[in-house]
Amino acid sequence: MKPIRTIGIVNGGGDAPGLNPVIRAIVRSAIYEHGMRVIGIRNGFDGLIWPEGAKEMTEDSVSGILPRGGTILGTTNRGNPFAYVSTEDGKEVTHDYSSLCMENARRLGIDAVVVIGGDGTQHIARDFFRKGMNIVGVPKTIDNDLDATEVTFGFDTALVVATESVDRLHTTAESHHRVMLIEVMGRDAGWIALHAGIAGGAHIILVPEIPFKFEAVCDAIRARELRGKRFSLIVVAEGVKLPATDPKGKPVPAAGPGNVANTIAFTLREMLHKEIRVTVLGHVQRGGSPTPFDRILGTRFGVAATDLIAKQQFGRMVCLKAGKMESVSLDEALEKMKYIDPSSEIVHAARAVGATFGDSA
Ligand code: F6P
Repeated sequence: MKPIRTIGIVNGGGDAPGLNPVIRAIVRSAIYEHGMRVIGIRNGFDGLIWPEGAKEMTEDSVSGILPRGGTILGTTNRGNPFAYVSTEDGKEVTHDYSSLCMENARRLGIDAVVVIGGDGTQHIARDFFRKGMNIVGVPKTIDNDLDATEVTFGFDTALVVATESVDRLHTTAESHHRVMLIEVMGRDAGWIALHAGIAGGAHIILVPEIPFKFEAVCDAIRARELRGKRFSLIVVAEGVKLPATDPKGKPVPAAGPGNVANTIAFTLREMLHKEIRVTVLGHVQRGGSPTPFDRILGTRFGVAATDLIAKQQFGRMVCLKAGKMESVSLDEALEKMKYIDPSSEIVHAARAVGATFGDSA
């Protein structure tokens, strides 16, 4: 086996708190433990198509980044090198730049690449592995929807921000006797909404995995009012599926991330005639300093990924299983997404303490 002397780091997709701790861990452990060189690739896989920004990383390059949000490498959530879409002469064209990326990695002297990213980025990593690149993956997403790992880094920080926001809205909702909705991220899975809803004591939690009815949401709000609770807090996952029609049979307009909670609020206002306010948390929950949990998990993932490279175990993604660092093949990692099971213990716990998912009318 040819020894691995130089590692490249690519991070792809949206940023997530904990990316910098992962990068720091790879750089430090590669240098300290394995005597390897590390090259940082800028702006996701774009940096392998246009490699001019690639730079050797040293202890100095990662100094002070442990508590920093974002990623010092920059990132993008567009652009798959295998089918890169751009506009030429006003027309959309698609190029396969994957061979160019392989060639550029070789020119940079990179023997193996750590790819840090969510499912989209890991799909690209898997395709590069199949094409012959030495790849190890690190799972990243605030959505926590990769089944192969107990948890992804970034989720805990997002959850802390979302929970604090629910707490803050709670006091205003109570003071003003309002219904307040907070829309949190979670494009396909409702983990942030479910966890922040439980941690923040939300009264209604709406997630993509549990179809809701407006009547059930209104019934829950009215039932609270009958008990003298004149306010309600609703946590909405941005990916929640809207009913096709409102209770009067009027079509509910299509909505998605950024406006789904407002769309729900519009119908609730018509049904309840109450003061309703909406907060869309957005990218606030993805930015800022990672929590200690995400710094530690990021560090463990980074070290584990570097160790896999040193052992030349390629085509694998590091993961956390029963609290231990393990790894799975990239194929296995991409087999299944992790969604909320409506009959799970955690959903039962939320219901048992009085939360509703809007599914019981
Ligand atoms: O997948 C992570 C995520 O934060 C989703 O929860 C969210 O829908 C999406 O990224 C937002 O992406 P963008 O930064 O492109 O708006």
